Amino acid sequence: MLIAGNWKMNKLRDEASVLVGEIVGGVRRHDEVDVAVCPPFVYLDMVVSACRESGVDVGAQDLYYETEGAYTGEISPPMLKSLGCRYVIVGHSERRNLFGETDRIVNKKLRAAYSAGLIPILCVGETLEQRDSSRAFEVLNGQITYGFEGIDDECIANTVIAYEPVWAIGTGQSASAAQAEEAHAYIRERVKDFTRGAIADSTRILYGGSVKPENALDLLKQQNIDGALIGGASLSAKSFCEIVRIAKALK
Ligand code: PGA
Repeated sequence: MLIAGNWKMNKLRDEASVLVGEIVGGVRRHDEVDVAVCPPFVYLDMVVSACRESGVDVGAQDLYYETEGAYTGEISPPMLKSLGCRYVIVGHSERRNLFGETDRIVNKKLRAAYSAGLIPILCVGETLEQRDSSRAFEVLNGQITYGFEGIDDECIANTVIAYEPVWAIGTGQSASAAQAEEAHAYIRERVKDFTRGAIADSTRILYGGSVKPENALDLLKQQNIDGALIGGASLSAKSFCEIVRIAKALK
């Protein structure tokens, strides 16, 4: 089980410092549940320091796929690794929809993350319009197939997938446990189709989209849901830590 918080573009420096302090204080080290926070780039260094020895891991929200060079404003995978990041979110729907990130770019970012020794959290998910026109699985299939194109099994085994239906992100309207479980089972089958051995069985598939303490239990107890990627509710240490406790109780 992995519970990860995506802070997105929120919090000023002092607020970020208070939030991570409260999370580190509120999350007991559990072997059963991995916990990670993904702050904005500019706070990574501070958050990594605050999380040291706490058992809370740190991830970035994005990366660029080149290692170094003339790419003004971009952040490379080795930079994130050198700061102490363990995870990096790749292909979040906000990157795809607001910043034009295509599956081809997502594929390059995944490769770059593996090369630097980072664990990517690959986000996939359909829009409301795609769901309403019964194309949700087709969209997931495309995002997974093109996202993982040409990537070897060993790297796929080292990837976390997050199913985040776009219509559930930041809307307060989570997918139902049954809707999420159906999509997760489908994603696992797709991973099974293009990997060998038991990789798909151990692939972590997180659910994301309006997860909060009130709906976490229902979602996390589904067979194919292996954790959560949490946006809004991760900005409050109280609700984030409560979700971690709920996950722990399930184990
Ligand atoms: P939300 O965001 O929990 O605020 O819906 C989830 C995400 O976008 O990762």
